[in-house]
Amino acid sequence: MSQSHPHRVAIYPGSFDPLTNGHVDIIERGARIFDSIIVAILANVEKKPLFSEKERVSIIREVFKGKDNVQVETFEGLLVDYAQRKKASVLVRGLRAVSDFEYEFQMALMNRHLAPGLETVFMMPAEQYTYISSRLIKEVFMLGGEVEGLVPPIVEDKLRAKQAGKKRRK
Ligand code: PNS
Repeated sequence: MSQSHPHRVAIYPGSFDPLTNGHVDIIERGARIFDSIIVAILANVEKKPLFSEKERVSIIREVFKGKDNVQVETFEGLLVDYAQRKKASVLVRGLRAVSDFEYEFQMALMNRHLAPGLETVFMMPAEQYTYISSRLIKEVFMLGGEVEGLVPPIVEDKLRAKQAGKKRRK
């Protein structure tokens, strides 16, 4: 019996400043479960991101080039409105530890309040990535620490370029 199955679009929203291997892991898991996954970079909120929106889009596109069901975009305004425009039925968020839970729970329920038909699905990254965050990557790298294996190689290269630019300006 052939059953028509709706095309399930998931959105994976975040700041991605920068993309980490934890994010990559969640995107790969999402791409296996959903028909397509849109990595949605929040635009214009953080006043001083390390990487511009354009840089973040191009990094993530580069990492997932050839993966046809992974798209990368930026969005502004309410996430639920963006999800509706994209005809997405699922929001994907990664949960690393109990400490993530409260903020994620609040967001998921607020989004449900705003858009009852949109479901938030939490996914856990592989355990070797559970302590990684974009904030710590930036801090450790800028203070001279090693981030190899924690971010894709292209992110390491771009971090190095930022650091070189900073040194030149000093
Ligand atoms: O990776 P982050 O920075 O924790 O992601 C937070 C993000 C982008 C998911 C959240 O700030 C968001 O959805 N912002 C868009 C505005 C919005 O809809 N706010 C209400 C969320 S309940």
